[in-house]
Amino acid sequence: MSSILITGASGFIGSFLVEEGLKQNFEVYAGVRKSSSHGYLQDKRIHFLEFDFSTREKVLATLEECKRNNLRFQYIVHNAGLTKAQKKEDFYNVNCRNTIHFIEALIESDMVPEKFLFISSLAAYGPGDPHSGEPVRNIHEPKPIELYGKSKLEAERYITSLKNFPWLIVRPTGVYGPKEKDYFVFFQTINRGMEPYIGFRKQVLTFIYVRDLVRLIYLALASAHVNKAWFVSDGNEYPSELFAAITKKALGKKTIRFTVPLFVVKAIATIGERVAGLWGAIPTLNTDKYNVLSSTNWRCEVEPLERDFGFKAEYDLEKGVHETLEWYKKEKWL
Ligand SMILES: NC(=O)c1ccc[n+]([C@@H]2O[C@H](COP(=O)([O-])OP(=O)(O)OC[C@H]3O[C@@H](n4cnc5c(N)ncnc54)[C@H](OP(=O)(O)O)[C@@H]3O)[C@@H](O)[C@H]2O)c1
Repeated sequence: MSSILITGASGFIGSFLVEEGLKQNFEVYAGVRKSSSHGYLQDKRIHFLEFDFSTREKVLATLEECKRNNLRFQYIVHNAGLTKAQKKEDFYNVNCRNTIHFIEALIESDMVPEKFLFISSLAAYGPGDPHSGEPVRNIHEPKPIELYGKSKLEAERYITSLKNFPWLIVRPTGVYGPKEKDYFVFFQTINRGMEPYIGFRKQVLTFIYVRDLVRLIYLALASAHVNKAWFVSDGNEYPSELFAAITKKALGKKTIRFTVPLFVVKAIATIGERVAGLWGAIPTLNTDKYNVLSSTNWRCEVEPLERDFGFKAEYDLEKGVHETLEWYKKEKWL
């Protein structure tokens, strides 16, 4: 039986990675923190390993302990990461520095797996050209527009600089599905009868349903590919109005539509950031968020997914949103 270690197993994507690993008969090791919830990790077959990535020595101690117990991982998916942070330095520390500690400790303990897959993000490259509307491609120069994306890009740069290390990188666009908490706020807003837009420019969004992303990740691990990176989306483009329309239809809701001009959002973000900055904190609406919200082209290439894995998403937004909303309703989130 092949073994797989999934870090950040307690989170949204991590818990789906664990579920799929068990389904595919892997020996699944859930990498968690002492403080992590086990709420989505109830299957008795899951083995738990506590990691503290804050220093290389701490990771090394855990890996040496694994070695003493004759435990080796064929595959590692390094999924632990921060998409939101309270302090600016948290992004770099968790998404980049911790990744470096982890890999250095794997090398030092001679525990390098057959494949190490890093979950980066489309944010590492930033949005595509707003004028040409061309999708972001591997051949383009990365231009992250916020700290989150920059921290993922720095981690990628470290990983891709390694010699003789079997890395793979996936860069998903927005991932949605059951258990997810950020798009949920949008679904909740529509459910309350409000349909907000930011700015008057047309925004093109892309998405990937969590089950499709997880399926792709296991295809990548099983493939012969190594030292290669892919963007991941369902291959469709969604104007922001379509996202709202699909949600409204699925919820059977009528909404009041309103637009907040970009300059207002920018003013709130800038002032909020200055005030919160006095305490070293980041407000929910900040200039990074403004940059993301005001970018109009979030397309990314998907042809390599089809070419390398024969991958086609099984879920478009309509099917995925429907399944997601059913889950939120069942769990009484909505
Ligand atoms: N969701 C998206 O749209 C999206 C898009 C592209 C890429 N990604 C990437 O996908 C990965 C998973 O994201 P998600 O959406 O599933 O987020 P999530 O639900 O917040 O899960 C994040 C996971 O990372 C763990 N984690 C956070 N800080 C950590 C630390 N300092 N040390 C160890 N573990 C830590 C969390 O553990 P606790 O439970 O203990 O907090 C949790 O298990 C991230 O790397 C993210 O950047 C997400």
